[in-house]
Amino acid sequence: MKTLLLTEKEVKQLLSIDEVMEAVESAFKEKGLKRVQMPAKLYIFYEKYEGDLRVMPSYLEKKDISAVKVVNVHPNNPSKYGLPTVMATIILVDPKNGAPLALMGGTWITAMRTGAAGGVAAKYLARKDSKIIGLVGAGVQARTQLAALISLYGELDEVRVYDINQSARESYVSEVKNTYRGKIKNIFPVEEVKDAVKGADIVVTTTPSRKPLVMNEWVEEGIHFNCIGADAPGKEELDPSILRRSKIVVDDWEQASHSGEINVPLSRGLITRENIWAEIGEVVAGLKEGRTSPDEITVFTSTGLAIQDAVTADITYRKALEKGVGRTLELV
Ligand SMILES: NC(=O)c1ccc[n+]([C@@H]2O[C@H](COP(=O)([O-])OP(=O)(O)OC[C@H]3O[C@@H](n4cnc5c(N)ncnc54)[C@H](O)[C@@H]3O)[C@@H](O)[C@H]2O)c1
Repeated sequence: MKTLLLTEKEVKQLLSIDEVMEAVESAFKEKGLKRVQMPAKLYIFYEKYEGDLRVMPSYLEKKDISAVKVVNVHPNNPSKYGLPTVMATIILVDPKNGAPLALMGGTWITAMRTGAAGGVAAKYLARKDSKIIGLVGAGVQARTQLAALISLYGELDEVRVYDINQSARESYVSEVKNTYRGKIKNIFPVEEVKDAVKGADIVVTTTPSRKPLVMNEWVEEGIHFNCIGADAPGKEELDPSILRRSKIVVDDWEQASHSGEINVPLSRGLITRENIWAEIGEVVAGLKEGRTSPDEITVFTSTGLAIQDAVTADITYRKALEKGVGRTLELV
């Protein structure tokens, strides 16, 4: 039994945002049609290190894809250790005999499948004429979130970038300007969150904040939020008053209720389950409507699903075999 080993660098060469978006969209649909097994992720909290570790298993029954991801979130990693905040490893498993088909770096896969989820959410929930994007947080996730929106819309008029760290927002802008030459008319850093939000069509939040950053009074009708940063208990980025005005779509009710953008307002009784419109899989599968008017405020709260990782790991594995990338090992 040979297991394919793929490094982070190799994984990075193999994936494009378009194919990951397609795979993530189909994974959401499988969940909407109840053809997946995916227990909510398990957490271990390293309180003294201000970090956590999650284990995320899944099985997409019709596609016959199964994987387990182990992933950490340590927001102080970049400044303390020169390591990314989020690092992951994925084991792709053969469902018919349980053998490990591949063991691969999962950090880039995590970023790509999270960006892809934002792109798919925007496809169903944001206005089709969206052209102005506000980013709150300019780290790793903010990069693939924008990649997915560019893939969806082709061209954007304006991207405004806020990050608490000035050099993070400036380096984001210069990097992105180079990467998407001709696809973004105007991209610039802003010094306050409200300058990223006011008048934007889509706002993407990707910070590890534990208090609201985006305030209700800045928010006009028709906006769409992709809330990505809140993925553990106690994290939140939006003023709960925004949620009370919005059509809220979660990726998974159980995960979102204890760790997504809605977890804090739910625990304080500021919103209830009645305020949640749907899971994204129900919208993708056509069981519930997405945006129905240009005036709605829509919110997608992403906690990150194990099925997103599994389908992205599966693409990576198949492309690696096709292109002869990686090496095999008799691991078991
Ligand atoms: N929903 C998902 O599926 C998913 C997946 C991966 C990561 N995440 C979460 O996304 C968040 C960001 O992850 P990342 O990998 O991009 O981390 P990162 O460290 O690369 O980037 C985070 C950025 O946020 C900035 N920031 C921190 N606090 C801020 C604040 N109060 N206001 C404005 N900016 C602030 C930091 O300066 C940094 O540039 C984390 O909370 C992580 O847990 C969610």
